[in-house]
Amino acid sequence: MNIMEVDTVDIDLDENAVIIIDQTKLPNEVVLKKLRSPKEIWEAIYKLEVRGAPAIGVAAAFGIYVIAKDLEEQYKEDEEGFFLAFHKQKEYLDSARPTAVNLSWALNRMEKVLEKEKGKTRQKQVMALQKEAIAIRDEDIRVCRSIGEYGVTLLKDGDGVLTHCNAGKLATIRYGTATSPIYVAKEKGWNIRVYCDETRPLLQGARLTAFELFESGIDTTLLCDNMSSALMKQNKVNAIFVGCDRVAANGDTANKIGTSVVAAVAKQYGIPLYIAAPTSTIDMNCKSGDDIVIEERDGKEVTDMWYEKPMAPKGVKVFNPAFDVTDHELIAGIVTEYGIARAPYTKSLKEIFQKKKQQI
Ligand code: MRU
Repeated sequence: MNIMEVDTVDIDLDENAVIIIDQTKLPNEVVLKKLRSPKEIWEAIYKLEVRGAPAIGVAAAFGIYVIAKDLEEQYKEDEEGFFLAFHKQKEYLDSARPTAVNLSWALNRMEKVLEKEKGKTRQKQVMALQKEAIAIRDEDIRVCRSIGEYGVTLLKDGDGVLTHCNAGKLATIRYGTATSPIYVAKEKGWNIRVYCDETRPLLQGARLTAFELFESGIDTTLLCDNMSSALMKQNKVNAIFVGCDRVAANGDTANKIGTSVVAAVAKQYGIPLYIAAPTSTIDMNCKSGDDIVIEERDGKEVTDMWYEKPMAPKGVKVFNPAFDVTDHELIAGIVTEYGIARAPYTKSLKEIFQKKKQQI
C-alpha cells in the first residue's frame, strides 16, 4: 500500500470507527488501524499512532463523533444526559496530549455544533457532528494546499530545504504543512533537495518525513539532529520549513523539540526559517511562548526505545520534553492558508484572522 494514496485519518461510517495509518509501525509496515472505543482513540493519540497537530485534530473530531454515535441510542430520550456524557468524553480525549492546540480546537468546535442543535433529536444531533467532523477533515486538505501555494513563493528551483520532525502528509490528511510547498514545487517540475533531521527521540524525521518524501520521488537526504549546523555551513540549505503545535499571538512557536536549536543556528548562517501554520494551530489566547504547556514524555523514549539493550545507565535522570518554543525573533515568516505573516507578528497574525473572518 502506498501511504501517499491513503488519507492519514479517515472514518468508516458503516463500522463506526476512526481509521488511521498506525505511524508507530512506519516505515517498515503500513498498517491501517480501526479505533472504536474512547480508550482506543485516546491511546492512539497518546502513543503517537496518530500524531502531528492537524492529524490529531481530525482524529479527535472523528473520534468524538464515533463516541457520540455509540451513545445515541442509550440517550435517545435524555438530552441532558447525552450532553453531559459528550462533554465528559470530549474532556477525556482532550487530555491525551497538551501542546498541540488542534486537539482542543477540534473538540471545542464539535461541542459548539452540538450546542447549536439543542432541542433536536439525538439522531439529528449526531448527524450534525458527523457533518462537522467531515468538514474539519476536508478543510485540512484545502488549508494545507493553500499553505503550499503561498510557501512555494519563498522557494526557487534547485533550492535545498531543511525540515525538522514530520510536518508532512502523515501529520495532516494529504499535503502536510511544511512539506506542502515541496510537493507543490514538485508539481511545477522543480527539483528541491530536502534534508530531514532524524528528530530524536521518536525519529519522526527518519521514520516518517524521509519515508514519505522518498516515496514521492523527492530528492531526500537524512541527517542526525546534530549535523544540521555543518550542513548549513556548507551552504546546502536555502530555507528551513517546519511545522508547529501552537503559535502564540506574538509569533513564538512551539514545535518538536530541537526546532529552536535549528532556528538559532539558522540565524547564525543567515538562513530564513519559516513556520508552516494552519490558523487552527495559531492560539491568539496565548500571549507568548511562556503560556504554552510543554508535554514531558517517558524517559524510556531516550534510554531504551529503538535499542536492543538500554543505552544509558539504569535509573539515570532523563530530560525529555516533546516540544520547545522558538522565539518569534528567529522566525522569518509564518505561512498560513491566508498568506504569509511577517514580523511584527502581534499585528500580522491579527490581520490573518481578519482575512479569515472576511472569507468565511
Ligand atoms: O510529537 P509529534 O510527532 O506529534 O510532533 C509533531 C510536530 O512537532 C509537528 O512539527 C507539528 O505537529 C506540526 S504537524 C503539521
